[in-house]
Amino acid sequence: MSIASVFAQEKAIPKGGQTLKNIEPQPYIELPAPQRKGGMPLYEALNMRQTNRKFAEKPLSLQQISDLLWCANGVNREDGKRTAPSARNAREIEILVFLDKGVFLYIPEKHSLQMLFEEDMRGKVSTRSDMPEKAPVCLLFAANRAKMDGFDEDAVRFYGCTDAGYVSQNVYLYCAANKLSTVVMGAIDRDALREVLPFDGDPVLAQPIGYPVEK
Ligand SMILES: Cc1cc2nc3c(=O)[nH]c(=O)nc-3n(C[C@H](O)[C@H](O)[C@H](O)COP(=O)(O)O)c2cc1C
Repeated sequence: MSIASVFAQEKAIPKGGQTLKNIEPQPYIELPAPQRKGGMPLYEALNMRQTNRKFAEKPLSLQQISDLLWCANGVNREDGKRTAPSARNAREIEILVFLDKGVFLYIPEKHSLQMLFEEDMRGKVSTRSDMPEKAPVCLLFAANRAKMDGFDEDAVRFYGCTDAGYVSQNVYLYCAANKLSTVVMGAIDRDALREVLPFDGDPVLAQPIGYPVEK
């Protein structure tokens, strides 16, 4: 099933350009259950892990997006803990998913997507690179300040960055194991992206993902 066909059934969402901090929560779109078994052996995936900056136009399936997000920072235990570690178990890294169909927030507890904007905003991710626009999926890792209660400002900045790195490496390993291209990007437009967040937070890294270009 494609992501387009799922969202075609959903009710219309307001167009972008506004922040979501003050508007009604949007409907949740359930993702198919992630694969939690099998796949490439870890040593082979580590051996294949690399940055690849070229992306084919071919979209990813909804199952691939489900697996990607679960690997990135999904819930892997009954107590709600995740595939990526987080300082003091704050679980502050939120993932925004930029697709041609719009921008979505990943809700790990429901393994669902919440639509934020019904427009293609991949071009907003970076003014210094067109890689987010060229890839069918671009993830943004942002630290949610409300989840870092009791952290001083240094800890908010430091752990937001370290914790985003673990999520990125999970994505790298998912891509290596599934022969997909990816590049983690620090060269993003943090001020513009902060306005897209539906929470008070700090955009840390982006990561476009797609099929490689055939050589
Ligand atoms: C925190 C961080 C930020 C990065 N930012 C960018 C970036 O903005 N643009 C880019 O093309 N590559 C970026 N990279 C990818 C590195 O250039 C890449 O990992 C490095 O060249 C090593 O290549 P490898 O990943 O294939 O081992 C970044 C990597 C890290 C860890």
